[in-house]
Amino acid sequence: MSNLAPGKSVDGSPRGIERYYRLHARIYDATRWSFLFGRRNLSACIAANRQPRRILEVGCGTGTNLRALCRHFPDAEIIGVDLSADMLGVARKNLQHMTRPPKLVQRAYNESLQDNDPFDLVVFSYALSMFNPGWEHAIEIARHDLAANGIIAVVDFHHSRFPWFRNWMGVNHVRMDAHLLPLLEQHFTAEQCQVNAAYGGLWHWFRFIGTPRQDPRKNLATNSPYGETVPQP
Ligand SMILES: C[S@@+](CC[C@H](N)C(=O)[O-])C[C@H]1O[C@@H](n2cnc3c(N)ncnc32)[C@H](O)[C@@H]1O
Repeated sequence: MSNLAPGKSVDGSPRGIERYYRLHARIYDATRWSFLFGRRNLSACIAANRQPRRILEVGCGTGTNLRALCRHFPDAEIIGVDLSADMLGVARKNLQHMTRPPKLVQRAYNESLQDNDPFDLVVFSYALSMFNPGWEHAIEIARHDLAANGIIAVVDFHHSRFPWFRNWMGVNHVRMDAHLLPLLEQHFTAEQCQVNAAYGGLWHWFRFIGTPRQDPRKNLATNSPYGETVPQP
């Protein structure tokens, strides 16, 4: 486990995250492409099998995925939620030329966003690893917000075997303890689950695409049933 769990050593509250992105929103798009792997073809991968009608991206940030979602699903109703006004400000600019720009909502994802009209697709891209505390609750809300035949698509940091790197990511509000995949697998049946190495194994990131389980499972084995072993801390 990480020596430095965000929430204890850095301010992981919504106010702490907002303060962090007040500065980082300005440099986010220029810097993050070099390490937020797996985002580029996420929408295309979903579009190969599905045509969701209502889409939610949680922690949409500057709108990189929202743009791709708009391109692949031009007829869908698309909503992005994020607690950072600064990140949403950049997103608004990035999306202003879209024919049908997504709706942007500023708030923490700590309660349901669907009002009797569930989403067909919920996307988390490098968001859940920053929900410290709150990642378990966010996964449960997403399950509630999804239609029974909907899909969740998550791309995020998984783990690093280097404590100094986990600590550094903790300073940046990111928890990298291989903690997300087991809970995702409890709540969702995976259609795709891949763990990939970045920069020669400095860290691993994952992509998980799944459908809601009717009966969430408890105490799953730590090996992915999709032929790829999930590296343990
Ligand atoms: C690393 S950025 C990812 C942005 C975007 N999804 C991407 O892939 O580029 C994480 C985003 O999650 C947002 N965030 C963090 N905690 C949140 C919460 N509890 N509710 C909603 N958004 C949150 C942050 O403000 C930030 O914009």
